[in-house]
Amino acid sequence: MLAKAKAVPEAEFNVWLASANGGGMKVPAPPQASGPEATAAPRVELGRKLYKVKQCVVCHTIDGAPRIGPAWKGLYGSAVKVVTNGKERLVKADDAYIRKSMADPNADVVAGYPAIMPPQMGILDGGLAAAILEFIKGLK
Ligand code: HEC
Repeated sequence: MLAKAKAVPEAEFNVWLASANGGGMKVPAPPQASGPEATAAPRVELGRKLYKVKQCVVCHTIDGAPRIGPAWKGLYGSAVKVVTNGKERLVKADDAYIRKSMADPNADVVAGYPAIMPPQMGILDGGLAAAILEFIKGLK
């Protein structure tokens, strides 16, 4: 079998290349990445977005007023009265408590509220839960 190769002088090739490339037109820069990961927004800002996107806003306020669930303002570090296995007890709202309240809200149910919060286990992965936790911490 015979293969034909065409030898082109370099100058001619460069002219062809330039025209193939739009005759020297500028190649548009790739679009800038956007979104929280690109802007490297602090976790608190991501948490603020998740609060709305993940529907927490339907039941929780951040200005201190109770809604369907308890308000998040002032929650971090406070003493919360919860019902665990039918027994009332006081717990400190630390990282572990808030993480557990998100993942498995029916384990410790805040006294006076119905156990209707949808469990977020498998919905909020570690990074998202951490962002919401940071957001809650900042609501003083
Ligand atoms: C359908 C309403 C509803 C939605 C939606 C909801 N929650 Fe709740 N949440 C509640 C209720 C009611 C309680 C109190 C009873 C309990 O502890 O389960 C609660 C309790 C909590 C607590 C403990 C609060 C405290 O004062 O000790 C945290 C933290 C929390 N929710 C986080 C979240 C996050 C994060 C989301 C969004 C991903 C969310 N919730 C979505 C109803 C909701």
